Amino acid sequence: MKFITIKSYDELSAKAADIIAAQVIMKPTCVLGLATGSTPIGTYKRLIEDYNNGKIDFSTVKSINLDEYVGLDGNHDQSYRYFMNNNLFNHVNIDKANTYVPNGCATDYDKECAEYDKRVQDFGGIDLQLLGIGIDGHIGFNEPDSIFTKETHVVDLHPSTIDANARFFEDKSLVPKKAVTMGMLSIMQAKKVLLVANGANKKDILEKAFFGPINPQIPASILQLHPDVTVIYSEN
Ligand code: PGA
Repeated sequence: MKFITIKSYDELSAKAADIIAAQVIMKPTCVLGLATGSTPIGTYKRLIEDYNNGKIDFSTVKSINLDEYVGLDGNHDQSYRYFMNNNLFNHVNIDKANTYVPNGCATDYDKECAEYDKRVQDFGGIDLQLLGIGIDGHIGFNEPDSIFTKETHVVDLHPSTIDANARFFEDKSLVPKKAVTMGMLSIMQAKKVLLVANGANKKDILEKAFFGPINPQIPASILQLHPDVTVIYSEN
């Protein structure tokens, strides 16, 4: 594992974008596993700049996102499909037909989840998986549990996740209580993992996840078993 501590959010964003850009340049047909949340926004801004400067071309890139709220369709301004369109896809030349976010309004979640996992397998796996980390240690929406769940699945969001995400909604009662998330297998089979974390409130969970025991109560701790993980952390 590489653990990079960096001085500022801007530097974190620049470093993460450089790693993703290098992946796209090295393998223009790569599969990027993408994440939502506040932390990757600066990374996506830098990637848009790189695209505008002619440094990267997304035309043959595929992307697959980690998660989506259950009950929000892609036009809802708090859905993760909307987030991705707004923060990245609308501003670069990726073919939207090659971008995947779980369906938050599926009628049959067993089918939706099985198809999501099959899609990752059909891609031949993810080349580079970008992750954030929740203050409860979640990656994607794999919340603390008694086991690491391998497959894409529907989860009940942890109270701390609902609290943390309430800032994006008019009222806490509007935060969805469930989400659909990629499971640990697709994440762990990614060739490279890049985890970004920003702020003093993430320090404690990073220590537990990367320097403590591997335990499904700290979902990110499974990444200690991954052969190619880079963590970029900025306290400020
Ligand atoms: P954040 O979310 O980037 O908004 O802190 C991270 C996460 O919950 O995965």
